[in-house]
Formats: sequence, structure tokens, C-alpha cells
Amino acid sequence: MKKALMIATALAVTSSALAAGKLEIFSWWSGDEAPALEALIKVYKAKYPSVAVDNATVSGGAGTNAKAVLKTRMLGGTPPDSFQAHAGQELIGTWVVANRMQDLTPLFKSEGWMKVFPADLVKLISAKGGIWSVPVNVHRSNVMWYNPAKLKEWGVSVPKTWPEFLSTCTTLKAKGVAAPLVVGENWTEQHLWESVMIGTLGAQGWENLWNGSLKFTDPRVVGAFTTYGKVLDCANKDASGLSWQQASDRIIDGTSAFNIMGDWAAGYFTTTKKLAPGTGFGWAASPGTTKTFVMLADSFGLPKGIKDQAETMNWLKVLGSKAGQDAFNPLKGSIAARTDSDLSKYSVYSKSAATDWKSSKIVGSMVHGAVAPESFTSAFGAVIDQFVASKNSAGAAAAAQQLAVRSGFGK
Ligand code: GAL
Repeated sequence: MKKALMIATALAVTSSALAAGKLEIFSWWSGDEAPALEALIKVYKAKYPSVAVDNATVSGGAGTNAKAVLKTRMLGGTPPDSFQAHAGQELIGTWVVANRMQDLTPLFKSEGWMKVFPADLVKLISAKGGIWSVPVNVHRSNVMWYNPAKLKEWGVSVPKTWPEFLSTCTTLKAKGVAAPLVVGENWTEQHLWESVMIGTLGAQGWENLWNGSLKFTDPRVVGAFTTYGKVLDCANKDASGLSWQQASDRIIDGTSAFNIMGDWAAGYFTTTKKLAPGTGFGWAASPGTTKTFVMLADSFGLPKGIKDQAETMNWLKVLGSKAGQDAFNPLKGSIAARTDSDLSKYSVYSKSAATDWKSSKIVGSMVHGAVAPESFTSAFGAVIDQFVASKNSAGAAAAAQQLAVRSGFGK
């Protein structure tokens, strides 16, 4: 080949590689949690077939591991093109206040999203005059899962309050069920704590904890910690070794009667385990929270200093689109963040969640980043660990209050 031709060929290859582009998507949705994200990437690939998508995941429920890796990358100056973060304080209190994110207000306007996302959700992702991420879903945290056939066999019904739960627990133990409740690793214990708190203090009490008007040391909160301790006495002793999926499995195989988990469990039951909602698994609002929807939303943002700006903007457009959300959410167990999704594509469980989303009092999840800054949530795990070991309500309440003050919202 003549030299000029060789150079021309090499240039053509380079420029077509450039034209093809790259996109790195960073999340914790691997393994059993992967199918929904893969479906969303498929929608993106159908529109942008020449972009090489790097689906970079760091496994570990609730992002416990991914968040640590993300921190290293953000601080080290190698941000992923787009990363998963919970809508609300998790992103705002960390990467927005550190001035590491790009404002998405123009994108929200050009895509018409101000009209299709609920105003309260847009408020949750807004701060400092900007909008900072694109929500792909709405998950519910306060759900109690069970196995209908097993409850029938044991002759118990779904408890509606925590005191009722405790008496059901006694009944089940008498029938030989050693652990009526199943719980997993630390973050799932925090998740359970959240449901016990809201079911005991009420939605308003919960909100007051995060706006600083209710102290963790208030006797009502200390009392709720004591209830949480009694609830834990109904649970398995090998919690720390179980992922949320392994905990969910114990409902299906009948080892335990109840599990409190977000509705990604519905995605796991239907997508991974191929179980039918209503027969293969049952659900109810966690005790004491029937009229409350504890929400969280997975969202993706646009960090400053990324390499693939155009490809990432297109990714965010797909993520916020009706087609993208209706491909992702039916597999994930969540409902679309958009108000115009096609519910005929969703399971019976998700249809019920969509109804509750419209008719319930909405409050935000702490464990999943909506209401408290990362400085609080990342340290709260240790408070729970200590409580699990000591069952010292007053001590845990005092430690939580100290954390709240240090994180800037406690008074
Ligand atoms: C939550 C997240 C969900 C799900 C869950 C379990 O924090 O919002 O989408 O991934 O963790 O890992």
C-alpha cells in the first residue's frame, strides 16, 4: 500500500472510531439486578448503535460498595460519564455542593420534562438554582413481603401495626418458626429500622426527624428504637451474611414469614424468580404505614469533566424518555418516574404501587438517599450495628442525634 493511502486509511479508522463514541454507565445493578438496566441500554443501543457502551457495575445492594468506588473516581478526577445516585440529599449533599455536577435544567426544558415528572420529584433533585439528575424510577421502601401459601399454612394474617407484628411473631415462634422475620446485611437492617420508625412515629414524625424539629433523643424516638429491638428479636441470627436477595429467598422457601424490603424485591420475584404476584409472593405496606408511601428514586447525573459529553446527554435523554422508563421499570419492580407511563406493561404489584403513589402521603427514604445527607447515612450503619449488639435504645438515640447535629440538620 502506498504511504499516502495507508495514512488515509488509518485516519479513516481513527475518525470512524471517534464518530462511534463511547459511554460509561456506572451503577450497582449487577447480577440479579442487571436485567432492567440491560433493557434500558438496549433502547439506547437501538438509537445509537455505533456507541460502545461500557456497563460498569460495582455489585453490592443499595450501592454500599459502588458509592465508595465512585468517591475515589470523582475525587481522583476520573468521573464516570454518568453514575447512579439516589434523587435527593445523596447526590445534592455530596457532589452538587462540591460543585462536581452539571446543571440539567436546559435538558429538562428541551425534553419537556418539567411537565412529565411530578413537581415534588423535580423539587427533590433541585438545589442551588439547578436540576441535578434524571430520575429513572420511583421505588417504594415500606413494603412487607410474604409467601401467601405459607401464611395460610401457619394460620396467620399480615400484621397491620408493629405491636400486632410482635404478637404474630410470638404465634409463629410457638409454631416452630424460629425466625418469623428475615433480615440481611447492615443496610437492610437500616431499611427495617426506617419502616419501624415511620410505622411508629407516623409520616409527620419521620419528616420532623429530618427537618430537625424532632430530636432522636425524644422519648417517642427512643421508644421506637425499643420497638425496633423487639422486632429484631423476631429475626434470624445470621443477618450480616445475607444479601437482600438471599433474605428474599427465605420468604419463598418458607424459612421466614416476613421481610421488609423495597420493591426491587418485586422485580427479583417476577424477573429473576419468575413468580406470579399475588400467588408466588404477597405484599402489604409495612406495619403502621398503610397510607404512607416511602419513596426513593434512582437517578443519573452528568458529572463535570467527563470525556463523552454528547453520548452521555443522549443517554440521559433515553433514561428520561417514556420508552426508556417503560422498558426499565417493569423489570425492576419500580414504577416510572414519569406520569405518562403505560401501566399495561407493568405487573399487578406495580399497578398497585402506582395507585398508592397517587393516593398516599409521600415521604422520603433515609437509607436510600432521599432525606438525609451522605454524612449522616454513611455513619448511621455503625449506630445500627452497635444497637443490634447492645439493644441500648437511649445510647443509639443519643448517637444518632449527635450525627444529625454534625450533619447540619439536627438541632
Ligand atoms: C437501592 C436502589 C434500588 C436497588 C436496591 C438494592 O438503593 O435504589 O434500585 O438497587 O438499592 O440494591
